[in-house]
Amino acid sequence: MASSPAIQSKVLLVPFFATSHISPCIDLHLTEARPPGAVEATVVITPANASVVRSALARRAVPTSGGAMVQVAMYAFPAVDGLPPGESLIRDLAPDAVVTDTHFFWNVDVAADLGVPCAIFSPIGTFPTLATSHLALAGVHGATGGVVTVPRFPSPNIRIPITELPEFLRSSNVSNRWARIMPARKKCLGLYVRNGYVRRAYFVGPLSLPPLPSAGASTDGSPCIDWLDTKPARSVVYLCFGSLTHMAEAQLHEVALGLEAYGKPFLWVVREWRRQVGDRGMVIIGWAPQTSILAHPARMACLCSSTWPMVVEQFITERFVTQVLADGQRMWPEDAGVRSTRSKENQFIPAKAVARAVAMFIWCPEGPGRGEEQGE
Ligand SMILES: *[C@@H]1O[C@H](CO)[C@@H](O)[C@H](O)[C@H]1NC(C)=O
Ligand SMILES: *[C@@H]1O[C@H](CO)[C@@H](O)[C@H](O)[C@H]1NC(C)=O
Repeated sequence: MASSPAIQSKVLLVPFFATSHISPCIDLHLTEARPPGAVEATVVITPANASVVRSALARRAVPTSGGAMVQVAMYAFPAVDGLPPGESLIRDLAPDAVVTDTHFFWNVDVAADLGVPCAIFSPIGTFPTLATSHLALAGVHGATGGVVTVPRFPSPNIRIPITELPEFLRSSNVSNRWARIMPARKKCLGLYVRNGYVRRAYFVGPLSLPPLPSAGASTDGSPCIDWLDTKPARSVVYLCFGSLTHMAEAQLHEVALGLEAYGKPFLWVVREWRRQVGDRGMVIIGWAPQTSILAHPARMACLCSSTWPMVVEQFITERFVTQVLADGQRMWPEDAGVRSTRSKENQFIPAKAVARAVAMFIWCPEGPGRGEEQGE
């Protein structure tokens, strides 16, 4: 690691593999209050993720060489030394502190062995974090059907079908991850999100803000910004379901037909796509500068994971938006069919319903919250 006389401490950031974890983890470091340059961060990633980190830093105008504030260190993946992600680098680089992703909770033990303070970072919001903790302690594991009410929450009652719970809560195998994450959370310095089951919680954010104007190539020259510039104010529907969701080919097709039937311009970020859409739409495959798109005046509505939930905690977050904040509406009414965190259980949504829902559903958070830049 490069060092400079101004650096007072060195922190290792160990994000999970996905863009939606890497970007906010870097923002976390960049938004921390401190004298500028006093804390040097090293982002610990796989070689395959290096480009994600580099472009995230470029968008934020952060240099990565020459005594910079953010360094990049890589570990082999799959592991050649048999150690899980991050572990060998924590031992080798001897940082002053470690921030590890919630998925890599074992680093809490590694840091504790070395006497290094460690905090866990979770990009998942406070509400679903607390809801899943309450549900786990209430013992929902292994339930196969029905509806549960999240315990210990003030009103309104949050009721959620078992099919919409994250896979780690549905699994009957309680000896797996969850049972190991809870002790790690209690043992570490704190969790970078609010939670009742940890020693200390740090509220951080907002993370994933639009890039700085000074970042120059802030949108990485993405053609979609030029395209948006040609559209009238508040006219474009934006769709992006995140890098971790998989939508079946047949469902993608119905969404495309529904959008065409709705008749307004749309910008759609997908993982993969084989079909042409009409003139009205622009399809971006892979990564798009989401924070810039959300901030663009042409953007009218936004279909994203909190409006069309699919995986992990997204169904719980949807209830936070629709029931607690009461600031959005469900894309699909309660009785429209089975929704599930397991894609093969999901009911197929026909084009007509997509068009109707898009027409009804013209809502988007004014500023982006948790970013879900797509890039996997
Ligand atoms: C349960 O999870 C543990 C740890 O991930 C694994 O070793 C074990 O094989 C799993 N058991 C079953 C029955 O799936
Ligand atoms: C990050 O690295 C992992 C492991 O090499 C790889 O499977 C994943 O696709 C990479 N993700 C991104 C966004 O580059």
